[in-house]
Amino acid sequence: MNTGLKGRTAIVAASSQGLGKATAQALAAEGANLALCARNQQALESLAAEITAKHKVEVFTRAFDVTDTASVQSFVEDVARKFGRIDVCVTNAGGPPAKDFLALTPEDWRRAFDLNLLSTITFAHAAVPHMQKNKWGRVVAITSVSVKQPIGDLILSNTIRVGVVGLMRSLANRFGRDGITFNNVGPGYTRTDRLKQLAASRAASASATEEEMFQKWAADTATGRIAEPEEVADAIVFLASERAAAITGQTILVDNGSYKGL
Ligand SMILES: NC(=O)c1ccc[n+]([C@@H]2O[C@H](COP(=O)([O-])OP(=O)(O)OC[C@H]3O[C@@H](n4cnc5c(N)ncnc54)[C@H](OP(=O)(O)O)[C@@H]3O)[C@@H](O)[C@H]2O)c1
Repeated sequence: MNTGLKGRTAIVAASSQGLGKATAQALAAEGANLALCARNQQALESLAAEITAKHKVEVFTRAFDVTDTASVQSFVEDVARKFGRIDVCVTNAGGPPAKDFLALTPEDWRRAFDLNLLSTITFAHAAVPHMQKNKWGRVVAITSVSVKQPIGDLILSNTIRVGVVGLMRSLANRFGRDGITFNNVGPGYTRTDRLKQLAASRAASASATEEEMFQKWAADTATGRIAEPEEVADAIVFLASERAAAITGQTILVDNGSYKGL
């Protein structure tokens, strides 16, 4: 399948590790030039060196916190200046902490809003005018299976990420005639550092081992397995490709069938 991504410019937010990193690698394998960000500059630089050597694409990196609106805006403008175009924008950030509802403070809620919803709004707001110029664009938000099926103690994720789905559906309607699509990828349990942290925190409160937590999560899926980051990245690459022009406003779960609904 020709994805049509060769020579295009793709922003991947929060991409120094985990799902963002796998997405950056997968887009580079299709020949896209990359603009990567996360807070750890060193991790970004070593990823950029690895990708450049392997895929011979251009990689621009900058370290900042995606909750800092001004930094997101200036990053997107600098990417457009450097590459002359923005074709793909994959929004992503760290996940909000697992905490019981009664233990959450207003500050926890504000932080989750800034991290997972406002950052997506800011990236889309800054990138869309550049996509409009070329009458082509792909915005893909990394969310979670929690937007379809709330997860126990991840109430911040269950609540705030649904706002991302509403946003993307609204933008799909607003900018569809400009050739820009907006979709969400909702991972289920996927083997990244974030999941290892979650396993540690769940294991502590359940008097279980981390490995037992992984086994429990795998047993709760249709396929009996945990996804790999590359499998989530492949779905994102497809949605970012020329081939996915007819898909917009959707949420594609990559969750091994852990969502039990139709
Ligand atoms: N893995 C799963 O099973 C799973 C399932 C469903 C949903 N998700 C969601 O998918 C997203 C990515 O998860 P992951 O598993 O890839 O997590 P991860 O392995 O912890 O990686 C998170 C990435 O985001 C960056 N980051 C975190 N906070 C940031 C911030 N404020 N500003 C800029 N960059 C930031 C991190 O780099 P720095 O630390 O250098 O900033 C890192 O590159 C999260 O929102 C997570 O909740 C994950």
